[in-house]
Amino acid sequence: MQADPPLDTRGRHLRDLRISVTDRCNLRCSYCMPAEVFGPNYRFLPRSDILSYEELTRLARVFAALGVKKLRITGGEPLLRRDLPQLIAQLRTVAGIEDIALTTNGLLLPAMARDLKAAGLDRVTISLDSLNDATFGRMNGKGVGVAPILKAVESALQTGFTPVKINMVVQRGVNDHEIEEMAKRWRGTGVVVRFIEYMDVGTTNGWRMNDVVPAREIVARIGARWPVESADPNYPGEVASRWRYADGQGEFGVISSVTNTFCGDCTRARLSARGELFTCLFAATGHDLRALVRNGQSDQALTVTIAALWQARDDRYSELRAANAAPTAKAEMSYLGG
Ligand code: GTP
Ligand code: 5AD
Ligand code: SF4
Ligand code: SF4
Repeated sequence: MQADPPLDTRGRHLRDLRISVTDRCNLRCSYCMPAEVFGPNYRFLPRSDILSYEELTRLARVFAALGVKKLRITGGEPLLRRDLPQLIAQLRTVAGIEDIALTTNGLLLPAMARDLKAAGLDRVTISLDSLNDATFGRMNGKGVGVAPILKAVESALQTGFTPVKINMVVQRGVNDHEIEEMAKRWRGTGVVVRFIEYMDVGTTNGWRMNDVVPAREIVARIGARWPVESADPNYPGEVASRWRYADGQGEFGVISSVTNTFCGDCTRARLSARGELFTCLFAATGHDLRALVRNGQSDQALTVTIAALWQARDDRYSELRAANAAPTAKAEMSYLGG
C-alpha cells in the first residue's frame, strides 16, 4: 500500500518510531523512575494491556508505509520483555526499515546479545551515568555497580554492534565531576558517549534548571583536556550534536534538549507499551492505536488515522520550555518510551 508521506503542521516528516515494549525496569534511576514513586506497590501495566509482537509488527508496517525508516526499541527496560529477539526478527521483515536500534541499561545484555544480533538488531545504546560504584549505585536507585554495565559494553562490542553508544545523563552536583573521566575512558575505543542534559521528563523526578549542565559547558570541559572539533550530523535531525577529538581518538555527542532545543526537525513518534501514539516525549496523552488494532480496523484505515494524527501535530515542548510557556501535564518517560 502506497501512501503520501505526511508532514505535520510545522513541515516535519515522520521518520523514526520509538517503541516502548514494557513500562517495567530492573533499575530505579532517580531522574527517570524514582524509587519513592515506583515502589513495591506501583501498578505496572498488566500483560493483556501490552501490545503483542504481532500487533507491534503490524503497526510498524503501517508506520513504515508513512515514511518511518528507523525503529528504536525502548522501555522501561526492553530486555525484560520475554523473547525480545523474536520481535526484532519480526520487525526485520518490515519493508522500508533501514535501522533497528535498542536502548538498554545493559544488565541483561550479555546473555542476549548474540540472539539479538542474529535476529537482525543493528545497534545498541547502553545507559551508564558514572564509572564510580557509589555514584552509579545511588543514581540507579538499586545500588548496582559499574562492573555489569562494563560487561554489557564489552559484549556489545564483541557481538559486532557498531557503533556502540553510551548515554550519560549529566546532573550538576551528582555526576558532572565525572564528565572528563567518562570521556577519557571511552576515547579511542570506538564507543561513542553521549552526554545528555538532564530533562524534565514526566512529573516525578523533581527537575530544576539548576541541575542542568549545559551542553556547551560539557564540550568546553572536554575540549580543555583534548582539543575537539564539531562534526556534521550523521542524518538530518540527529538528536546528538557530534564532536570529534582532533587527535583522531574518535567522537562523542551532546544532547542539548534544554539549552539548545531541536524541535524544529523532530521526526520522532513514540508508541507506548499500551499502544498509544505520542507525538512528543513531553506529551500528556497519546492516541489509542491499540483500540483500532484490536477492533478489526484494516491497515488502510490505520494508515489514514495515523497520517491524520501526524498532520495535526504541533508539538515543540522543549522550545516552549525555553520560552517559559511549557505545559505541566506530562506522561512518564518509562511509560511512553525514551
Ligand atoms: P541515534 O539513532 O543513535 O542517533 O540515537 P538517538 O539519539 O535517537 O538515541 P537515544 O535513544 O539513545 O536518545 C538519546 C537520548 O536523547 C534519549 O534517551 C533522550 O534522553 C533524548 N532524546 C531522544 N529523542 C528525543 C526527543 O525527541 N526529544 C527530546 N527532548 N529528547 C530526546
Ligand atoms: N533526562 C535525560 N535523559 C533521560 N533519560 C531518562 N530519563 C532522562 C532524563 N530525565 C534517558 C537516559 C537513558 C534513556 C533510556 O533515557 O539516557 O539512557
Ligand atoms: Fe530504567 Fe533506563 Fe529509566 Fe534507568 S533510565 S530507570 S535504566 S528505563
Ligand atoms: Fe520532539 Fe517533543 Fe523532543 Fe521537541 S520536545 S524534540 S517535539 S519529542
